[in-house]
Amino acid sequence: MAPVALSHEGRVAVVTGAARGLGQAICRGLAEHGATVVGVDLLDQAETGGMVEAAGARWQGVNADVTSEAAVTALGQEVQERFGRCDVLVNNAGIADPVPWDALDYELWQKILRVNLDGQFLMAKALVPLMKAAGYGRIVNITSTTTVMPIEIFIGYRVSKMGVIGLTRSLASLGEHGITANAVSPSLTPTGMTDGVIPDEVFEAYRQSASIKRTATVDDVVPTVLFLTSSDASWVTGQSFAADGGQSFCLP
Ligand SMILES: NC(=O)c1ccc[n+]([C@@H]2O[C@H](COP(=O)([O-])OP(=O)(O)OC[C@H]3O[C@@H](n4cnc5c(N)ncnc54)[C@H](O)[C@@H]3O)[C@@H](O)[C@H]2O)c1
Repeated sequence: MAPVALSHEGRVAVVTGAARGLGQAICRGLAEHGATVVGVDLLDQAETGGMVEAAGARWQGVNADVTSEAAVTALGQEVQERFGRCDVLVNNAGIADPVPWDALDYELWQKILRVNLDGQFLMAKALVPLMKAAGYGRIVNITSTTTVMPIEIFIGYRVSKMGVIGLTRSLASLGEHGITANAVSPSLTPTGMTDGVIPDEVFEAYRQSASIKRTATVDDVVPTVLFLTSSDASWVTGQSFAADGGQSFCLP
């Protein structure tokens, strides 16, 4: 058997939510392992583009909303025309609803589901045809440990992230085309999503309850994503993995 290399040399990877946080770290990791990276975000992605190019990889930033079918379809065509392939899709873009039940209205509920779940569906719809044509593809959908945690906020968020696990299992039915799909749950990680939303004492409580007693960094999720998006992970599909320092395992 060839040694496990986690190489992404010659691969084209599309990462949503690439402007900052976990998506930015995933872009950098893929670039450091040789992938051409296409970042998708509503925000400016110049910082991520700089990191990818500093790693010696090709970069293309696309300003698009993952909830827009037209924008995502156009993105798929752009990837096809520019690179002729899409080997890796990391569905990472997401938003949260850090409010309890009484403050959650239907509009916010729908917005969360549109970005976190419909966005992943639309991206897969746009890029799976390229993977099928090549007989190869690696999809990683970012979900969350909130799916298994006893919290009173993030209600629509948790439902959307449970949906992501279901979507992932359905996408695993593409195995006959050489396509795998897996879900990855990061744990609570300081990013733009948590800034000003999650108080320090919550971080401290999570630190204490995890097996590994420190706060996660954006880089902690990257090796798991790199493995699942590599050709080495050809026999792993339809699964959901927590890269969470044992946090969800230990919480009461
Ligand atoms: N930070 C955490 O504690 C944590 C824990 C578990 C899971 N996650 C998940 O990790 C992923 C990344 O989160 P993060 O913490 O890096 O958050 P973040 O807010 O820092 O980054 C999310 C990115 O997604 C982009 N985005 C949002 N809506 C979009 C849309 N409609 N179209 C295109 N881009 C859009 C944002 O502009 C942003 O750049 C999310 O799916 C999140 O649910 C985060």
